[in-house]
Amino acid sequence: MSHPEIEKRKTFAIISHPDAGKTTLTEKFLLFGGAINTAGTVKRNKANQSSTSDFMEIEKQRGISVATSVMGFEYNDKRINILDTPGHKDFAEDTYRTLSAVDSVILVVDSVKGVEEQTQKLMEVCRMRNTPVIIFINKMDREGKDTFDLLDELENELKISVCPLSWPIGQGHTFKGVYNIYNKQLNLFKPDKTKISEPVIQVSDLQDETLTQFLQAKELSQLKDDLELVDGIYGSLDKEMYLEGLSAPVFFGSAINNFGIRELLDTFVSIAPSPKSREANEREVIATEKGFTGFVFKIHANLDPNHRDRIAFLRICSGKFERNKFYYHTRTNKKLKFSNPMDFMANEKSLVEEAWPGDVVGLYDSGNFKIGDTLTEGEQLQFKGIPSFSPEIFKEVENRDPLKSKQLEKGLQQLTEEGVAQLFTQQPGNRKIIGTVGELQFEVISFRLEHEYGAKCAFRMLSYRRSSWLSSKDKKNINEISSRRHSNIATDKDGNAVFLADNDWTLNVAKRDFPDVDFHATSEFNRS
Ligand code: G4P
Repeated sequence: MSHPEIEKRKTFAIISHPDAGKTTLTEKFLLFGGAINTAGTVKRNKANQSSTSDFMEIEKQRGISVATSVMGFEYNDKRINILDTPGHKDFAEDTYRTLSAVDSVILVVDSVKGVEEQTQKLMEVCRMRNTPVIIFINKMDREGKDTFDLLDELENELKISVCPLSWPIGQGHTFKGVYNIYNKQLNLFKPDKTKISEPVIQVSDLQDETLTQFLQAKELSQLKDDLELVDGIYGSLDKEMYLEGLSAPVFFGSAINNFGIRELLDTFVSIAPSPKSREANEREVIATEKGFTGFVFKIHANLDPNHRDRIAFLRICSGKFERNKFYYHTRTNKKLKFSNPMDFMANEKSLVEEAWPGDVVGLYDSGNFKIGDTLTEGEQLQFKGIPSFSPEIFKEVENRDPLKSKQLEKGLQQLTEEGVAQLFTQQPGNRKIIGTVGELQFEVISFRLEHEYGAKCAFRMLSYRRSSWLSSKDKKNINEISSRRHSNIATDKDGNAVFLADNDWTLNVAKRDFPDVDFHATSEFNRS
């Protein structure tokens, strides 16, 4: 059974390696969607990548990005929700969590640089959840890689099959435009950062004489040759494969020049999935179910120490969310009511009376929520899909002010509940270890501990480089590894046993020595 409010929603994220053009593309979508009038409205979540001294600036930008955390707009009778992800790689974990709340993604790749490190990591997260992906090859106005090589690179390095829906004619200074394979149109490129429409020439097929008016004979014959190859290698789009996350349609364009945006947006609107179903530990929850359910995927702190309120971002999964109605917070067994839930349309926040699956509402929170928490109308449910990933940097927390140990403990707990970093505890002595993917978080944590909680700490670098979550059919195996390898064992925020390894070698030795223990790369797996 379908529901018009659910069918019209398309909730997605634009993701990329920093600098490929995510912010520019987001802004252009908002422009094309009529949600903003001028470029420059979307704040760049960007900071000097090499420096850590401007972390407060970054935190401030994260603060600003509350407004841009969700950008909703209407386009072709659809309600589009773009969930923003931080650009800085040190906040990758934030991005991974946001990906748990979307139904599809658009992946931006720089035509000059091709697949980059962060592109690969993000794609791995999409693959874990079979998230449908559309790829936008950006910066075609620059001298980039050969198109066929680029597609090979996408397939090999992102481990997804691709299907070009448009094809570039030249590139860089010879870039003429793209041929839209699907709609049989020629879209001519005119570098222009202000206009939002591009000349589109409809043709019947590649033999259409009209093409000769716009393309030189050499360009046209190259296009015909290329498309013959494309047809042979990639065939036409299999929509089911796209929806299962197995095949990615590819478009080419130049975001800064507003080129290729309209066809990308139109195709996105027509093929991207609406909210469907989500896995909870107990059962699968279908979007069209009557009862409301949702989960918190992001918590945003208020940086003003006088206003400790946080905003918890709730993705609605089924039913209808209503203001001032009591909902059941399944982790704490509490009933909670929200009198000021926030909706986000482009850059404006407004009070929301009701919201539907696919929507994200911001809930003012005085400390009730943890990332991953589920709300329902009374059913005991816990949504899956927000695992912790292995951090790459581990540091022990040293208390610098023994009189403030309570504050330190509370601060660490709250900051890690917000998802700023992961907290592990190691015995003996309740050693607190913070794990992150970037150095930046340590500065953020010590600054915030001092300014918001009055606690002082220092960090001592540890040699661990990765964490694996442990499970076993028999708990005694966990006890055994815990006592024999106690210097590598810690517990995570939920009390689960974790193996901290310095490198692959240590990890492999442990796997060999404890064959009855399973080592998992993320915190989410079937705990049988
Ligand atoms: P990000 O969010 O993925 O980090 O990338 P962002 O949109 O900020 O774009 C990174 C840089 O690439 C920006 O230049 C932007 O103007 C440029 N850019 C985006 N799309 C295109 C394109 O189609 N062609 C070309 N040639 N450049 C593009 P910047 O100098 O870092 O910033 P700015 O001063 O232009 O704002």
